[in-house]
Amino acid sequence: MEQGRIVVVGSSNIDMVARVHHLPLPGETVGNAHFLQAFGGKGANQAVAASRLGGTVAFVTSLGNDLFAKVLTDHFKENGISVDYIRLSEKNPTGTALIYVSDSAENCIAVSPGANGELTPDYLETCKAVFDGASVVVMQAEIPYQTIAFVAAYAHANGVKVLFNPAPACHIDDDLFQKIDILVVNETEAQYVSGVSLSNGEIPFIAQKLLDKGVKAVVITLGVRGAYLATSRESGWVPSYKVSAVDTTGAGDTFCGALAVACSKEELSQDHLRFACAAAALSVTKEGAQPSIPTRDEVLAFMKNR
Ligand code: RIB
Repeated sequence: MEQGRIVVVGSSNIDMVARVHHLPLPGETVGNAHFLQAFGGKGANQAVAASRLGGTVAFVTSLGNDLFAKVLTDHFKENGISVDYIRLSEKNPTGTALIYVSDSAENCIAVSPGANGELTPDYLETCKAVFDGASVVVMQAEIPYQTIAFVAAYAHANGVKVLFNPAPACHIDDDLFQKIDILVVNETEAQYVSGVSLSNGEIPFIAQKLLDKGVKAVVITLGVRGAYLATSRESGWVPSYKVSAVDTTGAGDTFCGALAVACSKEELSQDHLRFACAAAALSVTKEGAQPSIPTRDEVLAFMKNR
């Protein structure tokens, strides 16, 4: 795979994870939880994934006025990520995610954005140099929508491919749709952003609706059922790799980071989805978002053995 430089613009969180027998119901207390604190945030997870999987990565994020700012900056550097455009908040704490993970590997997450809310268009205006010579910018929806629109417009106008993962699901306006080169969504997000419920249309129908809105390529991830790619040239399913899942937190982020690396210099293809599916499959075999992200060598060895 030919590699281009990747810029990730997005959130950083500290994940507070309680591993429980089952996800608590409203009003229920579930005891005997196993606690784990790990680095997370959809932006940070995707930046770490892209870097561990062989990409050259710069990360634009906003960290809090707390001890985590230094710890996270060091962690990103250790993962080979350029940290020149990290913002340090004076008034907000680093983002926090409260996560339950059940024995059946399901999760539910509540996020307090904290400093992530300060990743504003005004700040991005001061970071334009990070996009010089970049091949692709990767964004998710844990930062202000205006920032996503600003970055997409700037990247689009300057020949930088835009990979957008609207997670958590958010409304996308017509103008933004037309700036997106690669839209990566899970089933829930696909229904939300297309406005078509799965009860009224199959996955290929929803993908076509999104292409009609001006997106150049749509990738719909379906967990154990693999992923679906639709572009104006090709469409088709890529199967998942069967593994024993321990924790699915961050699997979608690993997929996006891997996809960015795989197609940074090439037109998106089903081969790129296969690499991303393999990386995501390996990530669910371990606990935690960033602790579970595999390296490129691990993914290539895994694919060879299957
Ligand atoms: O996608 C997983 C991530 O979502 C977690 O790391 C958590 O921080 C939330 O942002």
